[in-house]
Amino acid sequence: MALTPAAGSGCGASSTPPPPTRSDRPANSQVEWDSFDPQAYVRHNYSALRDDDREILGRTRDFFADAELSDVRCVDVGSGANLYPALSLLPFAHSMDLCEWSTPNVSWLRTQIDHYDELWDPYWRVCAEHPTYAALADPRIRLAQVGRVRQTSVFDLPKHAWDAGTMFFVACSISADPAESQHAIGRFLGALRPGAPFAVAFMLGSRGYHVGQRWFPAVALQRADVVASIAAGAYDLDLHEVRPTPPLRDGYLSMLLATGRTRA
Ligand SMILES: C[S@@+](CC[C@H](N)C(=O)[O-])C[C@H]1O[C@@H](n2cnc3c(N)ncnc32)[C@H](O)[C@@H]1O
Repeated sequence: MALTPAAGSGCGASSTPPPPTRSDRPANSQVEWDSFDPQAYVRHNYSALRDDDREILGRTRDFFADAELSDVRCVDVGSGANLYPALSLLPFAHSMDLCEWSTPNVSWLRTQIDHYDELWDPYWRVCAEHPTYAALADPRIRLAQVGRVRQTSVFDLPKHAWDAGTMFFVACSISADPAESQHAIGRFLGALRPGAPFAVAFMLGSRGYHVGQRWFPAVALQRADVVASIAAGAYDLDLHEVRPTPPLRDGYLSMLLATGRTRA
């Protein structure tokens, strides 16, 4: 996704917001997450499969396909209104928990789990370019069978509860406080059992984003910040940066995909 940084719709409105000042750096708990509009978010970010999401999904798919997973407990954290991280884990899932905090997003996810929209078919076709995924006869039915939506905060995740996980565009985009961003990464990694494969995606340099008319905060992370947050809790870390060319929107620098396995 490209969290529409400041401009546009969906995650986007119409003009780049000024950089946050000290007085408008909300913490996660200060944000009205129930004003997040999943329809606007999907319309803006995912209604057409973009090259950057295709690349991130393809790399995530290949990473999990090589991870020797079978019939495991999977989790996607901060799922919001995006199904492609969950699709990237689907062939390996005994169960798939989608953990999300915002009430409208939870409702949207519950509807999508039952029978997801055709909009997600191109995303599955990217997955199905790999034989392991192509072998799954009906991803829609499979997600309905294994998917469960849980209204829970990343900061309340249980420890060592899942065998594989994803968290896309969350740690950078749920607060303006860098310490909370780090904390979210730590909680996500800690929720996975030691040795579990994971994929985490970030917007680098984001200064916030709109969803419909509402503005949401972000932390303008740099690649080094991500490495510093993840390295202590992971091994076999691999980073891949996707720079949109030409830039699709202003307000962020690039997307970063980090894959690896959790340390004990
Ligand atoms: C920028 S969106 C990312 C959504 C989706 N993962 C994607 O790839 O597009 C950030 C998401 O984090 C959710 N969120 C905010 N605070 C959270 C929290 N404390 N715990 C879990 N999710 C949270 C928001 O509701 C929103 O769905």
